[in-house]
Amino acid sequence: MSDSKTKYESYWGRFPSMIVDKAPLQDIWNTLTFYELTITNRSQANKVLYNGVVSNYSGVTQVFQRYDVVLDYIKKFMTPATDCIVDLGAGWGRNTFNMFLHNFPTNIDYYSLEYTEAGNQVAQDIYHKNVLPNSKKIDSHYILYTGLFDFNKPIIDFKKKYKNIIFLSHHSIEKVPQIKTAFFDLILGLDTYYTVIHMEPIGWQMMDINGPPYSVHLKYHNENLYQLLRTYEKNGKIKILEIYKNQYSLFSLKNTTSIVSWIKN
Ligand SMILES: C[S@@+](CC[C@H](N)C(=O)[O-])C[C@H]1O[C@@H](n2cnc3c(N)ncnc32)[C@H](O)[C@@H]1O
Repeated sequence: MSDSKTKYESYWGRFPSMIVDKAPLQDIWNTLTFYELTITNRSQANKVLYNGVVSNYSGVTQVFQRYDVVLDYIKKFMTPATDCIVDLGAGWGRNTFNMFLHNFPTNIDYYSLEYTEAGNQVAQDIYHKNVLPNSKKIDSHYILYTGLFDFNKPIIDFKKKYKNIIFLSHHSIEKVPQIKTAFFDLILGLDTYYTVIHMEPIGWQMMDINGPPYSVHLKYHNENLYQLLRTYEKNGKIKILEIYKNQYSLFSLKNTTSIVSWIKN
């Protein structure tokens, strides 16, 4: 087992005890997000970025705003034809559940795919204990599939044929020091229309883009996603739609998120 896998199995393994039967999804979402803030090294001394402004990290409200940025960006690419959203390296499904809480469509399928059994287990528990029994409260019946996913050996077990998929990676490729071509082979091999959105701390890799210089190369973090995207673009395989360098940070400027979206060319 790789270090990252061992670390995240035990990390997400600490979360299930907080999942209460039939508690409203919003309460569970807040509890787990708040818990994560308390067990990780997030300090008011840290500077963070939001809407172009650097300020001191001030806790949970700020973090909630950042996760809403994720949803706003996904919405930009959703059309009536979108029939599936896939979160890759999804942890406990935080972003997907946030979509449910923000009235994303109920007539599409959601996949929360994760490297660890523990993360998938939490997502399943939340889905069965806090989404389905409360489906009247969030006024919907969402379809969620969970499953194992490894960027290094990527396989996706799609439950049906989709016409228009949105893929998201949010601070997950950051844990893969060298993303390999296998990931692109998988996505480019799909016979369907899709948009891929990366929200990852790779601004420091974007030497050719102007923008605030916040993110840095952190130890054990990804160091080649941007370069690989540019190579695929140069070879005519993908079309990069948008690049936003260093847009927002969750708790530290060093790990500031950049956004890159692309489609098959
Ligand atoms: C910082 S967490 C982010 C989780 C989630 N995307 C979010 O925004 O809350 C990083 C996630 O990347 C996952 N991860 C690490 N290595 C991975 C790999 N090789 N393939 C897929 N996911 C991986 C971890 O298990 C963990 O859930």
